[in-house]
Amino acid sequence: MTIDKVIRTRRTSMLVDKDRPVPRDLVLELCELAQWAPNHKRTWPWRFAIAEGDGRATLGGVIADAMASFGDDPERVAKTRTKYLRTPTTLVVGAAPGDSPLRTAENRDAAAAGVQNALLAATERGLASYWGSCPKGANDAVAALCGFEPGTHVVALVYLGWATETVAAPERPPVQLHVIG
Ligand SMILES: Cc1cc2nc3c(=O)[nH]c(=O)nc-3n(C[C@H](O)[C@H](O)[C@H](O)COP(=O)(O)O)c2cc1C
Repeated sequence: MTIDKVIRTRRTSMLVDKDRPVPRDLVLELCELAQWAPNHKRTWPWRFAIAEGDGRATLGGVIADAMASFGDDPERVAKTRTKYLRTPTTLVVGAAPGDSPLRTAENRDAAAAGVQNALLAATERGLASYWGSCPKGANDAVAALCGFEPGTHVVALVYLGWATETVAAPERPPVQLHVIG
């Protein structure tokens, strides 16, 4: 696929073969490609952790406990415990803190750019991917579970699995290009 085609084909999707594992080496490739994203000051902020097998329930449990301690709705908390069993793998991507608020923000931007690299690489390999946010109040618990340093922002929980269906693309709005006079 050309790069344009990959960009237009990538969809947020969890339509995967639940019984077909995603090889860990393949996930490592996605992480390696993520690290080719632009990164101001070359701070190398990307942090990765993988949840597969029983680790998925561990991840869901830690997030659910954090949500419960913040008084989240019990039904949502209960759903969260099994949420990460929906795909064979979840890749957690963190952005390490910088030495100033500006650098911390830039690290997050670089991490987000890295996530997109990983999503595109996943698409090209036939994997479905789904970028989920870290639920409110669970950031520090997830970062600790993943072994990330304190202050790391959890940028994405990326569900991964072998795609079973293609998903229609939502329309994009027309480009708004302002010309600076
Ligand atoms: C920073 C970020 C956080 C996101 N968090 C969630 C999320 O928590 N739950 C969710 O359903 N989708 C989440 N998404 C995915 C968007 O909902 C999705 O990209 C959007 O619906 C457009 O669909 P597409 O990716 O197929 O074009 C997130 C995307 C980004 C960039």
